[in-house]
This record gives sequence, C-alpha cells and structure tokens, in this order.
Amino acid sequence: MQTSIVSYPDRGKWGNSSWAGNASGYLYKDLFEQLRPQVFIDPTVGSGTSVQVAREMNIEAYGLDLHSGFNAVRDSILEKVGKHADCIVSHPPYGSMIIYSGAVWGAQAHPDDLSRCVDDNDFHEKLQLVMLNQREATKGGCYYGTILGDFRRQGRYTCYMAEVIARMPSDELAGVIVKAQHNCTSDRRQYARMALPRIMHEYLVLFKKKATPTLVLLSNMAREQQARLTGTWRNVVRTVLMSLGGRAPLARIYDHVAEAAPDKLAANPHWRDKVRQVLNSTPDCFKSDARGEWACA
Ligand SMILES: C[S@@+](CC[C@H](N)C(=O)[O-])C[C@H]1O[C@@H](n2cnc3c(N)ncnc32)[C@H](O)[C@@H]1O
Repeated sequence: MQTSIVSYPDRGKWGNSSWAGNASGYLYKDLFEQLRPQVFIDPTVGSGTSVQVAREMNIEAYGLDLHSGFNAVRDSILEKVGKHADCIVSHPPYGSMIIYSGAVWGAQAHPDDLSRCVDDNDFHEKLQLVMLNQREATKGGCYYGTILGDFRRQGRYTCYMAEVIARMPSDELAGVIVKAQHNCTSDRRQYARMALPRIMHEYLVLFKKKATPTLVLLSNMAREQQARLTGTWRNVVRTVLMSLGGRAPLARIYDHVAEAAPDKLAANPHWRDKVRQVLNSTPDCFKSDARGEWACA
C-alpha cells in the first residue's frame, strides 16, 4: 500500500466469495505488510477474509461477528479477546444495501444488526460506539479503523466515512485510503440516465490511538463536538445578518434564524438564548452599536 488509492479487481482465495459484501483479501494483505501487526482483530468478520489473510502471515488473529454471538455495539472487544491488539479493522454493513440477520444468516432480524439500523443517524451513532470499542481494545500507538463506502438513495448522498471522522478524535486520524470497488450490486443494474457519477469506491479509514487515558479522550471529543456546534450557530447567525444587509434588530434576526435553521430550532428549545449568546460572545463577528440592533463586525 504505497499510495492512498488502491484497486484489487481480484478478491483472492481468502474468505468466501459468495458471502454478500465480502472484501478483497489483498486489501488486508497490503495493510498488514504496511503496519506489521502482531495481533489483529476484526469485529465484523463476515466470512473470515481478514483473519485468514492474517493467520497466513503468522499474525495472531481474532474474528468476531454478530452471526456467531458477538455484538460489537454491546460487548467489549477487549473483554472478549482478553488482550489489546496492534490493529483492529471492522467492515460494517452500511446503507442497508445488504441485510444480514434474518437474510444472509439466522432466521430472525437482530435489533443490533448494523445492516438493520432504522436510519443513517442510528447507524452513525452505533458505528461510533463500535469505533470506540475498537479503540479501547487497541494498544497505545497502534491502529484501529473501518472500511466504508458512500451511498446515494432517493437523491440523498451519505458519506459514512465523513461521519466517522467527524465523530472520532481528530488528532488520531491517521489515513484515508480510497479503494476502487469491483463487482458491486449496482454494477449489474441498468441505469437509464444518471445526473451524477455512479459510486465506485470505498474507503479504509485509519486512526492511530494515542496513549491518552479514556477520560481525557472523552473530554477532548466532547470539546471538539461543542466547538463544532458553536461554530455552526455562529455561521448561521452571521449568514442571516449578511442576508439582512449586515445590520438588523434582534427581532428580525430571530425571525430569519427561525426560517434558516428549522432543524436546529426543533432540537434546541432555548434557541433565542443561543442566538443572543452567539451575538454577545463573538465581538470579532458581531457588534451592537444601537440598543437591540446588531451588525457584522
Ligand atoms: C460487510 S460484512 C463483512 C464481510 C467480511 N469483510 C468478509 O470479507 O467476509 C459485515 C458483517 O458485519 C456483521 N455485523 C452486523 N452487525 C454487527 C454487530 N452489531 N456486531 C458484530 N458484527 C455485526 C454482519 O453479520 C456481517 O457479517
């Protein structure tokens, strides 16, 4: 794996080629040659591709999956395996393209099956939990990651990789590898006329765990999320003020914020307080030079 773009038209002899959503063994082979782990874990192992490649390379490897009783959103990987690993890579089902429990395996739907999430947000939150679970079982200074693609349905594009990156500690992001996808289900469909290009790639996103205690990690993550939210509020209010000619009374700002950001308001019953807080706390963006009237600084 010498560059951040990879392509494996052949999936190789590992795993099971008829297992829906299986990955190419060459991806794992290249990754292991690059990172040289001694202990590897795949918490969504499917047909076993990754673990077979690892064992062939004399890497101690553990494959876990909901199909054999391990639930990555409820069970601790560290407790299950009993030791930390140098590399933990998952390959979760995203975008409900392939349904696993009650279809590929088992007689019934499993409520924590990642292919059965109720919507994208449910998936993003569960995958964050899986990634934190992976991180906890990773040795300090070593790697954890996930293989994910993008998905477009009914005109809506979801970039699962971007969501993972936004939810994990930014100072641990180590690499994003773009992998060409071959033989995906959509290849076999006929497309009459497409306005936008067909998705033909997946990503391998890698994080390198710092040797930080968990509590510091969580407070850093919470601070990052808070800063992002504050920044978004500031930009919403600033966009509104700009659209009002750069100056407006507070009541007009409220009216326009309510039009510009209905979702945000539904989630925050104290949104007027938030608007005032943003206006009052960022003098480099906003100034009030007449009573009740605000302008861009
Ligand atoms: C895309 S497949 C993995 C394919 C694998 N890389 C291979 O080459 O065969 C995704 C796997 O995630 C598993 N899975 C779904 N939800 C899970 C959960 N909550 N915990 C653990 N595994 C889960 C599914 O059972 C499925 O086998």
